[in-house]
Amino acid sequence: EAGIFTYDPGFMSTASCNSAITYIDGEQGILRYRGYPIEQLATKASFLEVAYLLLYGELPKEPELDDFEGVITRHTMLNENLKDFFQGFHHDAHPMAILVGVVGSLSAFYHDSLSVHDERHREISAHRLIAKVPTIAAAAYKHSIGEPIMYPRNDLRYCANFLRMMFATPCDDYEPELIAEKALNLLFILHADHEQNASTSTVRLAGSSGANPFACVAAGIASLWGPAHGGANEAVLDMLLEIGDVKEVRRFMEKAKDKDDPFRLMGFGHRVYKNYDPRAKIIREVCHQVLEEVADVNNPLFELAMELEEIALNDDYFVERKLYPNVDFYSGIIYRALGIPRNMFTVMFAVARTVGWVSHWMEMMSDPGNRIGRPRQIYCGPDQRDYLPISQR
Ligand code: SDX
Repeated sequence: EAGIFTYDPGFMSTASCNSAITYIDGEQGILRYRGYPIEQLATKASFLEVAYLLLYGELPKEPELDDFEGVITRHTMLNENLKDFFQGFHHDAHPMAILVGVVGSLSAFYHDSLSVHDERHREISAHRLIAKVPTIAAAAYKHSIGEPIMYPRNDLRYCANFLRMMFATPCDDYEPELIAEKALNLLFILHADHEQNASTSTVRLAGSSGANPFACVAAGIASLWGPAHGGANEAVLDMLLEIGDVKEVRRFMEKAKDKDDPFRLMGFGHRVYKNYDPRAKIIREVCHQVLEEVADVNNPLFELAMELEEIALNDDYFVERKLYPNVDFYSGIIYRALGIPRNMFTVMFAVARTVGWVSHWMEMMSDPGNRIGRPRQIYCGPDQRDYLPISQR
C-alpha cells in the first residue's frame, strides 16, 4: 500500500511506520501528496492550499481555505519577548542556528498551555508553527545583516509576506514581484513533504516520546541542516562557485568518483530516487523562467549547472549508480536570482518542510496505537570481560 513500510524487525526496529501523507516511487520518479501528483500541485495550487491538503488529507473547499489562510495569517506575529532572543546571537550567526534556537524556544511560550494529547491543541500547535516559522526565518536573516526585524502584514499572501519581511526596511517598503512570489510558492510546495526523510523521521522519533511539537520541529531543523540533506542546496552553490568554469567540470567529476576524496557532487543522488527527482525536473523549468524574467538569462551558474548535469547524466559512474539531480540541484540558483543569500537556502527548505513535519507529527499523535520509537542495533562491540585495576592495564 502507498506509504507503508516496515523495518526488518530482526535488524533495525520492531517499529513500522504507516503513513497516508506522501507516496514516492523511487524507481519511477513518482511523488504524490495525498494521492495528487506533485506536477499538478506545483503549478496549480497555492502553498497554503497544499499545507491544508497535507494536514487534513483533502484539498480545501473555498470556505475551508479562507478560514485556514485567516488562522495562519493571524498568527504570523511573534511574541514581543522573542525579539530579545535574536539579540543573543552573534551578528554573523548562521540563520539555521538562529532558527533551531528560536523555534525550540516557542516551547517556553506554549508548553504549559497546549497538550500533545488534545487533538484541538495539536491542531493549534501545527497552525502556530506554520504561521511563525517564516517570521522567525526572516527575522534570523535581518539579524544577520544588522537590519531591524520586520513585522508581518495581514493583508499579504503567505509567500509575499515572507519576501516582504525579508527585504523591506522601516525606511523602504518592498512589494515582491509576482514572479518572485510565484517561484517561491512553487518551491515551497516542492519542498513541503517527502515521506520519511531524515528530518521528518527525526520529528516523528522525537514526537513519539510525547515531546512538544515546537521542540520536535527544532530537532527536525537541526537534522535538515546537514549537507547530505537540506544543507545540500547551499553546498551546490558553493560547489558551482568552486568549479567556476565549465572547463573544470570533468576534474571535479573525477574527484566525486574518488573514494578517497570526500568531495561529492552536491545535488546529485538520493536515498530513494534512482531516477530523476520529479521535483528537480520542475525546478529546472522554473529556473529558466525566473532567470528570463529577472533578465539574468545567461546566468553563468545556471549554464554551468546544466553543463554539469549533461556530463553527469552520460557518465558511466553516475549512470551505473543511478545518480540523478535531486531537488537541491537547481533550487539555490533560483533563490540567488531572487536575492536570497546562500546562508538562507536551507532556511527556505525548513520553512516549507515545517508543513510536512507538523503533518507527520499530527498523523502520528492521532494514532492511538502510537508507541515510543526505539530503533535497535547490531552490537559489534567486545564480548563480556572483567574490570582490571589501573595498575594492571
Ligand atoms: C535531500 O530523503 C529524502 O527524501 C531527502 C530529500 C527530502 O526532500 O527530504 O529528498 C532532500 O536531502 C536530497 C539529497 C540532497 N543531498 C545531496 O545532494 C548531497 C549529495 N548526495 C549524496 O550525499 C548522496 O547521494 C545521498 C546522501 C543523497 C544519498 O546517499 P546514499 O544513500 O549513501 O547514496 P547511495 O547509496 O545511492 O550511493 C550509491 C553510490 C555510492 O558509491 P559506491 O559505494 O556504490 O561505490 O553512489 C555514490 C556513493 O558513494 N554516490 C555519489 C553521490 N551520491 C552517492 N558519488 C558522488 N556524488 C554523489 N552525489
